Amino acid sequence: MSFVERLVCSKCGTKYEPGENPVMCRKKDLGRLDVVYDYDGVSERFGRESLASRESRDIWRYEELLPVSPGFAVKLGEGGTPLIHARRLGEKLGMKYLYLKDDTRNPTASFKDRAMAVGSAKAVELKKSDVAIASSGNAAASLAAYSAGAGMRCHAFVPPDASAGKIAQLLLYGASITRCGQVKKGEDATVQAMLAAVDRFGYYPCPSFGPFNPYQVEGPKTITYELYEQRDWETLDAILVPTGSGCLLTGIWKGLRDLRELDLIRAYPRIVAVQPAGNQALVKAIQKGTPFGKIIPEAYPASVAGGLLDPYPWDGDAAMTGVSKTHGAGVSVGDRDILRSVRELAAFEGIFAEPSGAAGLAGLEKLLSDGGIGRGERVVVLVTGSGLKEPDRVIEMFEGKNAGGVKRGTRRRP
Ligand SMILES: Cc1ncc(COP(=O)(O)O)c(C=O)c1O
Ligand SMILES: [Zn+2]
Repeated sequence: MSFVERLVCSKCGTKYEPGENPVMCRKKDLGRLDVVYDYDGVSERFGRESLASRESRDIWRYEELLPVSPGFAVKLGEGGTPLIHARRLGEKLGMKYLYLKDDTRNPTASFKDRAMAVGSAKAVELKKSDVAIASSGNAAASLAAYSAGAGMRCHAFVPPDASAGKIAQLLLYGASITRCGQVKKGEDATVQAMLAAVDRFGYYPCPSFGPFNPYQVEGPKTITYELYEQRDWETLDAILVPTGSGCLLTGIWKGLRDLRELDLIRAYPRIVAVQPAGNQALVKAIQKGTPFGKIIPEAYPASVAGGLLDPYPWDGDAAMTGVSKTHGAGVSVGDRDILRSVRELAAFEGIFAEPSGAAGLAGLEKLLSDGGIGRGERVVVLVTGSGLKEPDRVIEMFEGKNAGGVKRGTRRRP
């Protein structure tokens, strides 16, 4: 049973019936078709007790608040990831209540599985044979896995420097891979090539950007539901979100609003967007109060956090609303800080993250030092992608130019 009431374009306000199954606004205005639910209907079935009695641990556990029936889903075990109370890292940072949401533990080792499980299920419902994606690697690898399970062809448009681990996943899952040019003057060649292929061949677009597919946006919000269930509905003070296009943050915010609408939480935690210093158009806009429409894409994004290099924050409108309504913040972090966070997550908590996945921790450390977050607060850091996808980065950290004097074979304490 679907509780989707309608979809509404975030730019022009055009309303769509769920049965129209729209993917992009027909006005071609790059608005995101926000999914609106019948919360009264949902609330009859979705509450603390009813959730507690459910057995499934994957994202489909929250089916009333998803825009596609689980019957169409390829289920690989997406979601249901651990929320780890980081005692050792917390002690180092002087925090008692630091929690790490370990989304490296998804089927293809990044949080994108939440999005792609939903986006691909919609493609199955619509009987699509070919799906297309533009991505730095994680979302593409994820869509390729779900497409394999559904028997759909996946066409992935990736940047020239996508990591070997992500390309290996794409190859093995059987995706067709098109390596596009590097971002130039703020133009993302992967997105342009994907849109051209969608136009020309009629592929179903399923990138993890809201304006090109509204269904997948609903997947990552399950992180929010899980956080509250895992903490037994206690109040949280802040959530740190590694941010590229802003789609993940948009999901976290949507999840919070859903829970508020259903009266399952009373207050919002502050949402903090964390971007690398070499690609921080959204963070700058948050800090300066620039309206979304005036954001200028980063001309030549650069960072060790390859998953956070979208030059343009496609979902920045909703992301900025989420940050401002929760009295959150935007923070940028340097590559050295990101790499230190990779090291700390592993050395203190046993979590092996890729740089993009560890950036949230770097953001927390910056805000702890400038007072933006207090050491007594209850804070969740999202850890979004596995370091096994980019092992070269780690080896470089210990042996390459960023090694900081660490020689081969020497033990290093963080
Ligand atoms: C590991 C990882 N973390 C975070 C993000 C950021 O997500 P978004 O682009 O939705 O802001 C990405 C995006 O590719 C990613 O791969
Ligand atoms: Zn529109």
